[in-house]
Amino acid sequence: MTQPRRILVTSALPYANGPMHLGHMLEHIQSNIWIRFQRMRGHTCYYVCASDAHGTPVMLRSLREKRDPVEIVEYFRKQNSQDFADFGAVYDNFYTTHSDENRELSEFIYTQLRDGGHITTRTITQFFDPEQGMFLPDRLIKGICPYCNAEDQYGDFCENCSRTYSPSDLKDPYSVISGSAPEKRDSEHYFVKLADFEDVLREWTGGGRLQSEVVNKLDEWFTEGLRDWDISRDAPYFGFEIPDAPGKYFYVWVDAPIGYMASFKNMADRDGLDFDEYWAADSTAEVYHFIGKDIAYFHTLFWPAMLHGAGFRMPSSVFVHGFITVNGQKMSKSRGTFILARTYLNHLPPDYLRYYYAAKLGAGLSDIDLNLDDFLLRVNSDLVGKVVNIASRCAGFINKRFDDTLSGTLPAPELYQRFADAGEPIAECFEKREYSRAVRKIMDLADEANRYIDEKKPWVLIKDEKRLNDVHQVCSQGINLFRTLMVYLKPIIPFTAGKAEAFLNAGELSWADAAQPLLDHKIKKFQPLITRLDKKTIDAMVEDSKEDLKSKDVSGNAPSEFGPEITIDDFAKLDLRVARIAEASHVDGADKLLRLKLDVGGTERTVFAGIKEAYEPEKLEGKLVVVVANLKPRKMKFGTSEGMVLAAGPGGEDIFVISPDDGAEPGMKVK
Ligand code: 2FM
Ligand code: ZN
Repeated sequence: MTQPRRILVTSALPYANGPMHLGHMLEHIQSNIWIRFQRMRGHTCYYVCASDAHGTPVMLRSLREKRDPVEIVEYFRKQNSQDFADFGAVYDNFYTTHSDENRELSEFIYTQLRDGGHITTRTITQFFDPEQGMFLPDRLIKGICPYCNAEDQYGDFCENCSRTYSPSDLKDPYSVISGSAPEKRDSEHYFVKLADFEDVLREWTGGGRLQSEVVNKLDEWFTEGLRDWDISRDAPYFGFEIPDAPGKYFYVWVDAPIGYMASFKNMADRDGLDFDEYWAADSTAEVYHFIGKDIAYFHTLFWPAMLHGAGFRMPSSVFVHGFITVNGQKMSKSRGTFILARTYLNHLPPDYLRYYYAAKLGAGLSDIDLNLDDFLLRVNSDLVGKVVNIASRCAGFINKRFDDTLSGTLPAPELYQRFADAGEPIAECFEKREYSRAVRKIMDLADEANRYIDEKKPWVLIKDEKRLNDVHQVCSQGINLFRTLMVYLKPIIPFTAGKAEAFLNAGELSWADAAQPLLDHKIKKFQPLITRLDKKTIDAMVEDSKEDLKSKDVSGNAPSEFGPEITIDDFAKLDLRVARIAEASHVDGADKLLRLKLDVGGTERTVFAGIKEAYEPEKLEGKLVVVVANLKPRKMKFGTSEGMVLAAGPGGEDIFVISPDDGAEPGMKVK
């Protein structure tokens, strides 16, 4: 084992302007697998992110909705970070770029650049919306394409003929915000002289730290020449004001990457860590940014230049990934393949997507296709059919016939050793982000383990009393091979690995655990670790995604601290009734749900409620609850749910069903 490393990992900061979808999840799963792997290897690995708060979209939204932009940012910060956490991507800090730390660091970096002579100003001419009183970014100007005459094209790009141009080339331009004809106006802008950093950037980018595709792209950019970078925007702008320039604000892309540092700073102050240990120019810790290929320019040129110019260290590397397609095409709202993270989680366990992405992710920039049929096949054949199958074929015998206790020796130690020896080559794949290669190696081992059990046939041996010891040995071997696979899969499928850890009853699995088998050790009763995926569940998720189209968050309408606004008419549509829980029972294979049979004033309803973590079914029977009685029945994996029981609380064990006062009767209307 190598020396412990000190590592800081970031994922790109999502704009605080909408819900997360499965495209975002690719990056957060990729980075999360990496940090979980590093931690299992015994390294210190911090993992931070934040909401990217500033810029025109949030500002316009706040004007439109007459709502404080900070409130909008906070709404999405909470929602987005919860989505990531529920996929297992739990950040050590999920902060916001609209913070004191970020303001101070942004001002500091700018001042250092200015004092070092790397800032210049010049006047530029831009379109201005006289009605709205603001300069217009290219995307907020539309008009007729100068090349193909297509109407309603953006100021920088024609979607009809795919040509790029400048907004002043557009015919009959108009402001997307007010519809008025924009005027040209002059304004002084601030620029970073990127060319000042050419030598240091060439050295940094040429140091073998970046992916070859990124290096090739950088060669093109160096050849084109490093142009000055416009870092200022005129008021009104939601962002930080530039210290010596009233009315001028930092462009969102200035303070966004500084948000990585600010999130770390906020955590360092909170947890008593040393900020400089990770960010000082002479830092020996490692810093990595996971990003998508569309923002490589910002992260491989502007960002290292800013850091260096301000006297900080530069990143150890920037890990760039490709985009996501679903069923071979761009995600589409009408086809139901624009799948929100939350919609996925309402139907499917996070580990399935984590596994599928890992099985397809290499270290390059290629796009990844989430093919929903292939997804079903891979999950069922690999996770259910191969990996978990090993444990389920062996555990029953150990539980029932050998007092839950594994044998003191293994019958095939050389086979175990081969599994243990695979640890280093698999680790190398994880380290290099070659997850698909790691998965192939792990699945080859799983095939080997299944072949071993097929050959030994403990289910036949068990019939012969004289062969009982052989059954004990074979099944103990099987469980140990399963355990080794779980070590290797843990960064990818942490929720399943958590259940396996509970079953193995030997604490948290670390990478080093694969070297030694568990012998003479009491395990717990085997519970199914994972359920087979069926097509209906995927279809239901796709159907729900079509429904999401209509939801307010996706279409860009108002969220608030309290969720999207509804009218009194919307509210009047709810038929809230008192119901008595006649029967409550567990649902096989569901982590969170209970099946409730409700008596709603003589009518019986079956409702699935996500309150299992908080209530034992027996305790619920006879309780009065409030139910939404006219909710359209929803087909779920486990049956149809005919209503919704109202509950409140932060979740997990702290969720409380809302009960009416004494004296209520089933069927009563709630007013
Ligand atoms: O492209 C985006 O979604 C940006 N919000 C990413 C910012 S990454 C970092 F620089 F903050
Ligand atoms: Zn055109």
